[in-house]
Amino acid sequence: MSQLHSQLNPNSPEFKQNGEHNRMLARQLQERQKLVRESRPQSVLDLQLKRGKLLSHERIDAIIDEGSPFLELSPLAAWEMYDGEAPSAGIITGIGRVAGVECMIIANDPTVKGGTYFPETVKKHVRAQTIAEENYLPCIYLVDSGGAFLHLQADVFPDKDHFGRIFYNMARMSGKGITQIAAVLGSCTAGGAYIPAMADETIIVKGNGTIFLAGPPLVKAATGAEVTAEDLGGADVHTRLSGVADHFADNEPQALAWIRQVASHLNRRKEMPLVMQAPEEPAYDPEELYGVIPADPRVSYDVREVIARLVDGSRLAEFKARYGPTVVCGFAHIMGIPVGIVANNGLLFSESAQKATHFIQLCGQRGTPLLFMQNIAGFMVGKQYENGGIAKDGAKMVMAVSNVNVPRITLLHGVSHGAGNYGMSGRAYSPRFLFSWPNSRISVMSGDAAAGTLWTVGQKSVLRSLENPTSEQIAEAETTFKRPILEQYGRESDPYYATARLWDDGILDPAQTRMALALAFSAAANAPLPQDHYGTFRM
Ligand code: COA
Repeated sequence: MSQLHSQLNPNSPEFKQNGEHNRMLARQLQERQKLVRESRPQSVLDLQLKRGKLLSHERIDAIIDEGSPFLELSPLAAWEMYDGEAPSAGIITGIGRVAGVECMIIANDPTVKGGTYFPETVKKHVRAQTIAEENYLPCIYLVDSGGAFLHLQADVFPDKDHFGRIFYNMARMSGKGITQIAAVLGSCTAGGAYIPAMADETIIVKGNGTIFLAGPPLVKAATGAEVTAEDLGGADVHTRLSGVADHFADNEPQALAWIRQVASHLNRRKEMPLVMQAPEEPAYDPEELYGVIPADPRVSYDVREVIARLVDGSRLAEFKARYGPTVVCGFAHIMGIPVGIVANNGLLFSESAQKATHFIQLCGQRGTPLLFMQNIAGFMVGKQYENGGIAKDGAKMVMAVSNVNVPRITLLHGVSHGAGNYGMSGRAYSPRFLFSWPNSRISVMSGDAAAGTLWTVGQKSVLRSLENPTSEQIAEAETTFKRPILEQYGRESDPYYATARLWDDGILDPAQTRMALALAFSAAANAPLPQDHYGTFRM
């Protein structure tokens, strides 16, 4: 397999300038992640301690295997939403190894409005379950939640992917043999009571853990009876009388130890369906990615420079290297895991779409997982290309992406616009994971293109109010018309706007992307592959 050779000079002023810019973006990402993790009023933290509770991240650290990594998903969910009152959307999700088994961990954060569910909390919880179901990962729920955030009930309760979906997902996963484990470490009220009730195996902690459909205040209001939370639905009641929970823990550390014990009896062995290699560092330092990515998103760059800093030994066996050069396809390894890479290197043309389609089929035939690397402004436009049938070639790519049987992971490392987003396994195409970089931008088209299009179709009505306008007046009207559109696109295409709304599974620091991708591909290998039913169509 041939090693990629960088054409960039790390000592050039441009490389250094890019480096400064992208390091600043990476620092900003780390600061924001730290902020959502740590910014809580001292009184709230003290209360946790007084109650004998760990913080959510500490709980996760206590259950995963010592020294093993935790792939946290969407830590910046709900960023800059709800006046900053829902850091990380009040729930931590991610993949970690527990007693040797890769598991999805879903932990309420009781320091955020009592662990209640904002719309993004529900979305993040359901997304984590979707990842678990698609990748056959047992789920561990660390429950400590007051249920729905009642002020926003219309956005968390009635619809298909709202609160009720959580329990439906648990039932479906349990039916598929994907174990559901719940540890009740705090409140578990109303609908939330169904999390432990639906789990395959449930642990509850004395004193803090409670499960009831209606808490003491509601019981009093409805029946007039006075009852303590412990007598209504505490650990003793549920492990001795009701049988809603299975294991009684004296305290939180014991409850967390119980989880590891339950996981150690899952009797699961991961059948690795891939031919692995010994992991190897890239020949080019991943830290150099900061210098590779242009500070100006409109400047193009050779995607091989990025690939060379992500894959083992910087080796890529390119497919059809001489054909359809605006997409780079090839086989490589990431930390020993074989992957097929489809990466944009300019606009998509008919040839590049056909080449990618052919390559996606090859990966399907061979069971090789796919990495899509998006930096795509769209498909080529114009008469020549439309007449040449570019729409049907793009459709072939979309067809292949939608139906290929192997796990797909998508990385947004540049811009993502238009139908290019679709062909390149955008969010709507259900890649197993989708990550972005701090420099990425996602919107239907660029702000300039949108403002230009809207000016073309809207200028007649704008100019109608001006009598015989001069060219200066027209130019001014155009600038005034376009300004709010450019501002809107600038705001909405920002990666933090996207990650806040769960359009991705998290923003990654470029230099740490290799590790995140390896963990995600490893998790994806838990699910059996369905068979491909067609031979390869040569495009
Ligand atoms: N909806 C909206 N806000 C809620 C809430 C809910 N279901 N439950 C709690 N909150 C808010 C509180 O008003 C408080 O807000 P503040 O910090 O701005 O004052 C914050 O969350 C923390 O609540 P608090 O009661 O002080 O914390 P706690 O740790 O002592 O208790 C709960 C947490 C969840 C056990 C408790 O608040 C509770 O029982 N809530 C009601 C649960 C319920 O009935 N849910 C119905 C779901 S269908």
